[in-house]
Amino acid sequence: MDKLVIEGGKPLSGTIVIQGAKNAALPILAASMLVEGVVTIEHVPKLLDIDVMLNILRELGCRAEHVDETVQLDTTSLHSSHIPEALMRQMRSSIFLMGPLLARFGEVTIYQPGGCAIGERKIDLHLSGLQELGAQIVEEDSRITCYAKRLKGAEIHLDLPSVGATENIMMAAVLAEGLTTISNAAREPEIQDLQNFLNSMGAKIIGAGTDTITIEGVEKLTPCRYQVIPDRIVTGTIMVAAAATRGQVTLLNTCPSHLTSLIHVLRRTGVQIAVDGDIIKVGAAVRPKAVDRIVTSPYPAFPTDMQSQIMVLLALADGVSIMKETIFEGRFKHVDELSRMGADIRVDLSSAYIRGVSRLYGATVEATDLRAGAALVIAGLAAQGKTVVEQVHHIDRGYDRIESMLGRLGARITRYSPVESNPIVP
Ligand code: EPZ
Repeated sequence: MDKLVIEGGKPLSGTIVIQGAKNAALPILAASMLVEGVVTIEHVPKLLDIDVMLNILRELGCRAEHVDETVQLDTTSLHSSHIPEALMRQMRSSIFLMGPLLARFGEVTIYQPGGCAIGERKIDLHLSGLQELGAQIVEEDSRITCYAKRLKGAEIHLDLPSVGATENIMMAAVLAEGLTTISNAAREPEIQDLQNFLNSMGAKIIGAGTDTITIEGVEKLTPCRYQVIPDRIVTGTIMVAAAATRGQVTLLNTCPSHLTSLIHVLRRTGVQIAVDGDIIKVGAAVRPKAVDRIVTSPYPAFPTDMQSQIMVLLALADGVSIMKETIFEGRFKHVDELSRMGADIRVDLSSAYIRGVSRLYGATVEATDLRAGAALVIAGLAAQGKTVVEQVHHIDRGYDRIESMLGRLGARITRYSPVESNPIVP
């Protein structure tokens, strides 16, 4: 397993171009299975999760190439809708394939994706949504098979605004007979991107970005070329890293309107943020101030995917901050590792009480999940001394060569792979 070695204490400075959004690209790759032909998707970053999704599509008979940041899919020879259990276990986002494959083939077999480091990750809302569209669902042990000759539009209400369930139901409803409405839908920008992609292929969807989405079923779709939105969580991660190292960083190709809640919190800590079109400038010269209370909630509120990263900044702040995690019950696993670096954080159920310290100290720490790993990298950049972050594959799921990204901003960060004794030059 690779590891990252970081010499901390150096402010980040410079300019960086933000990669395409993982959480937009994954459902869009899945949605491509709804159409027969060649689909081209641009601004798709090289990530482990994208590789896994492309391997699943190849396994199902789709031709898939990923050159630079462009993916080309030829779905003409797609011949299976049975997702292998081993591949399903590699990435829970393969659940996104349920809706499209059911709509295209009238049958799909998946396996319970299981929980992960951050929580149980149930899929009941996905299944109940497809059932309301007319699917018959048979569960045998961990295997789930859905059948539907033709899906029929329905009025679907989500008990909670699940991002994945909203996306799966949208994709299934595109070729269904009649009208589907999804109420209490998730409002994330990635859902708007999925709507725009599907409509580029001839779907008739309105309302993404609001809590009610309407899909008018169509007979067939036409292949298209599409560019994915920038990754708002990668953008936020770099912003927090700039703030935590008291640096000056310019971020290009961003969507500031996707980061309103984060920008608001960062400004409350005293970080200077200037927005000009798709450019965000972040500057911090003094110790951050504590923020009395941050609560993670569905978009547009403060995103759970930024919770662990902002906690590093608060761990260095002047004062006590409280972070309440309301989305995933297991998303505080980075706290123990930060404490080993000198952070003073106490967790009580779904709240973390963060008493800022004047500095963190380098240590050997372990990434437990994608965003926790990113937080440990930020902590290493800000800490005094050397930090070694292990289990880096978690980070590679969502960040395209994070050491190169940060190295271009002056960070002293090197990747070591166990098979090579020498460092991998970024
Ligand atoms: C998406 O996951 C993102 N992943 C996550 O990002 C993100 O944290 C999450 O949305 C919340 O914003 C992708 O888009 C690939 P949910 P998803 O369904 O769709 C419960 C990252 O770091 N729930 O909105 O799985 C669930 O247990 C990843 O990039 C049900 O109870 O999230 C959780 O508590 C991590 N039943 C809550 O809803 C269901 O059927 C939110 O889950 C589905 C979800």
